[in-house]
Amino acid sequence: MKVAVLGAAGGIGQALSLLLKTQLPAGSDLALYDVAPVVPGVAVDLSHIPTAVNVTGHGKEELEQALSGADIVLIPAGVPRKPGMDRSDLFNINAGIVKNLIEGVADHCPKACVGVITNPVNTTVAIAAETLKQKGVYDKNKLFGVTTLDVIRAETFVAELKDLDPANVHVPVIGGHSGTTILPLLSQVEGVSFSDEEVEKLTHRIQNAGTEVVEAKAGGGSATLSMGQAAARFCLSLVAAMQGENVVEYTYVQTDDSDDAAFFSHPVRLGANGVEEILSYGELSSFEQKAKNEMLEGLRGDIKIGVEFVNK
Ligand code: 2OP
Repeated sequence: MKVAVLGAAGGIGQALSLLLKTQLPAGSDLALYDVAPVVPGVAVDLSHIPTAVNVTGHGKEELEQALSGADIVLIPAGVPRKPGMDRSDLFNINAGIVKNLIEGVADHCPKACVGVITNPVNTTVAIAAETLKQKGVYDKNKLFGVTTLDVIRAETFVAELKDLDPANVHVPVIGGHSGTTILPLLSQVEGVSFSDEEVEKLTHRIQNAGTEVVEAKAGGGSATLSMGQAAARFCLSLVAAMQGENVVEYTYVQTDDSDDAAFFSHPVRLGANGVEEILSYGELSSFEQKAKNEMLEGLRGDIKIGVEFVNK
C-alpha cells in the first residue's frame, strides 16, 4: 500500500502524516510532498519513529516521485481560513492548487483513490472531478471529499451533551462541508433523544465547529489536529476496505441524485476500488428535511463554481 500526502508539511499534513506513520499496515509506503522546503526534514523526522512504514519526502519538483505507484492520495494542500472568512473565501488560491495537484494524479497515478481535504471541499471536489475528466481518467468511485471531521465533531459534541463515551456514539452527517450544507442527522443517533432546542443548538454547533477553531486560533489558521485525525480515520478505513474488510464511512461523493446535488455526503460502503456502494441516508426528521431543502441551492452553486473553474 502506498499513500501520498500532498501538502504534507502543513498543519493538517504533518498531523495526518504522523498518524499514518504510526497506523498504516506494516510494509506500507508513505510519500510526503510539499512545495515548502521543510518537507524532506518532516520525512526524516517521521522516519525515526520505529514502525514498518517507509517514509519519503518530496519537494516542489518531485510530484511524480511522490505519486508514482500511489494507491491512495490525500490532499490537504492550500491555505487555511482566518477569522471572518468563510471556506469559499479560500477559492481563489486553493482552486488552482487542487487543479495542479490533480493533474499530477492524472499523469502519475490515475488509478489511485483520492481524498480531497483542501477547502472549500464542496467546490474543490468538483474541480478534481472536472480536471480528471479533462485528462480522460475520471472514475467517480475513486474521488472523495473528506467530511469525516464533521462526523467526529458531531460524535464528540453529542457524547459531551449526553455524558456518553464518544467511542460508542455514531452520528450520520450528510450534505457538504461548509456551514449549513453540513447536515447532522441527530434523529438517527441510536439510543439518544434530543429536545427540539437541543437539536437546533447542536446542529448549529456542528455546522459552525470549523469556525469555532478558526476564531480560537485567532489568525493562526483552522483545524489541523482534529482534521489530521479525521483524514487518518478516512484513509485507514479505505486501506481496510481495500484489504477486504467491510467498512462504511460518510464521505462526499458523486451521487448523480438530481433530488440532492451532484456531490453529496452519504454513507458509503468502501471496497477494493473505492466506492463499493452508496447507501441511502434513510428517513429525515422534518427539521432535517427543512434544513436540507434550504441548503441544497447553496451546495449546487458551490459545485457549479468548481465545474466552471475548470471548463472556463
Ligand atoms: C474544518 O472544518 C478545516 O474545513 C476544516 O475545520
